[in-house]
Amino acid sequence: MPPDDGMACNGSAVSSVEGGGAHPSPEHRRRLGQYFTPPGIAAWMADWVIQPSTRSVLDPAVGTGALLSPVFAHPLLPGSARVDAWDLDPVILETCRNTVAAASASLTLHTGDFLGSDVDGSYDAIVCNPPYVRHRTLQQRQALYGAFEQQLGVRLSRFSNSYVLFILKIATLLSRQGRAAILTPVDFLNANFGSPIKSFLLRENILDGILVFEKATLVFDDANVAACIVLLRRDRTADDPVRFVRVPSEAELRALEALPQSWSSSYPTRALSPERKWLHLAPGSGAVAPLVRQRGSVPLEQLAAVRRGIATGANDFFTLTAAECEQYGLLAECRPCITKASHAPHLEFCSSNFDTLRNDGAKVYLLDVRAEVSAAAQAYLDEGLRRGVQRRYLTRHRNPWYATEQRPTAPLWVTTFSRTGFRFVLNDAGVANLTAFHGLYPVVDDHEWLLMLAAFLNSGAARIALAQHQRLYGSGLGKLEPLDVAKLPVIDPEEVPQSAREEIVALYTSRCRNERVDLAEARHCREALDRIWAELSRDLPVVGM
Ligand SMILES: C[S@@+](CC[C@H](N)C(=O)[O-])C[C@H]1O[C@@H](n2cnc3c(N)ncnc32)[C@H](O)[C@@H]1O
Repeated sequence: MPPDDGMACNGSAVSSVEGGGAHPSPEHRRRLGQYFTPPGIAAWMADWVIQPSTRSVLDPAVGTGALLSPVFAHPLLPGSARVDAWDLDPVILETCRNTVAAASASLTLHTGDFLGSDVDGSYDAIVCNPPYVRHRTLQQRQALYGAFEQQLGVRLSRFSNSYVLFILKIATLLSRQGRAAILTPVDFLNANFGSPIKSFLLRENILDGILVFEKATLVFDDANVAACIVLLRRDRTADDPVRFVRVPSEAELRALEALPQSWSSSYPTRALSPERKWLHLAPGSGAVAPLVRQRGSVPLEQLAAVRRGIATGANDFFTLTAAECEQYGLLAECRPCITKASHAPHLEFCSSNFDTLRNDGAKVYLLDVRAEVSAAAQAYLDEGLRRGVQRRYLTRHRNPWYATEQRPTAPLWVTTFSRTGFRFVLNDAGVANLTAFHGLYPVVDDHEWLLMLAAFLNSGAARIALAQHQRLYGSGLGKLEPLDVAKLPVIDPEEVPQSAREEIVALYTSRCRNERVDLAEARHCREALDRIWAELSRDLPVVGM
């Protein structure tokens, strides 16, 4: 149990305040509840609150700005959006100013107590990881809680932690289409002090869902308290259900937006009683576990070989820009390639994308010297020898040192690293992939079949399964080895009834196109596809069981 006075709160364990050179004592951090949101969770929260209509954003307890970084990076947020952030601690705000604020002129930082201050206006999007502290004296609590009670018509227990006041105040600050995602401890769901908060949220019909993390240690490393994300939405209708989801770990959260409804529980608002305990309403992990059912699915390796991309051992030498190719006369001994995942940010990579990269001066040619070495290639290799490229780890173990791997072109790639979900990309440009992508080599040579496979691989179910197989590195970076991808259970396109094939191909083609031009339409296609896959996985025969 957290102690009465200023115990640690939510956020992954971050041992020091990064970025600004300030190193507050652990006691200072504990007193102000300074624990920070892991990037994967922050990215998901930003994604949920930001809509095409979002023009104003608030973070009431900003800390170093972990929740605002993905907000500013979000493609739907216009540069002109008003962004306000609050924090009690001027030292941590300085860090925030040096990092996040430097990236955006539209951010206003307020030093002060968000709960005790007048906040003007309303907001379209609010993200918050409130402090989990109870450091005020009883007298201060009386005054503060009394003010809330008077304004909102609720009766609050003086034992409640002040994070519940953040929930209440945020609820009052949402615009007509506003959304809020608040990372809090779960205790208000079951404790008596939570009843007035639940009652208020139901009365206002503003509670849209609660995502409960299964592993307490995921978010509350220092205090053994489980966490949840409270989702508020102002434009709910009386018929909109409240969704409860149990999330096994941060990995599943990444793919949650694509989860079929059946993996969570939904309740009409009128069916929820504020006096009852709510924690069990999020289905047990068993409901989320059969992420990709066994029905109709086979390991991907039965449908496609998965191989890592070409490792050159020295990309700075072996990859060249178009201008460098020309300068050294190497065009005939180079092969078009892709070196970075960010160079193919969508679900397909076409010749026009390659041309844009090439014209922008990206390194898109791979030196591919075979048995015969031309004079031009020899001159370039001599340059490499002068630079010591032959002494790098991979080149040392190759004979000759400059012979890069010969790999056929892969029609489909998957990103090797990801923070927000792995992506399968159709290689319509027919270029070679370096290690930023693994290559998939399908056993069937048919475009419709390939589209269906790609459509499934980019589905919510596949993303979740991949997230479970990934290896997690620091700060939420996930990595897939080719074997992890090969073992992924997938629906065999040949098992898909003819009647569904056309629709899948049409929806997926539309999804790919709209990822570039109309994100809302792309999301619509993705959701429609996920419903089809969910239905198919129910109807298909059970394989290997
Ligand atoms: C749990 S941390 C979250 C920081 C950041 N938003 C994140 O997600 O990583 C809570 C922050 O709230 C600040 N804080 C504590 N009490 C506050 C209050 N009454 N008003 C505004 N900020 C407060 C703390 O200094 C701390 O930086």
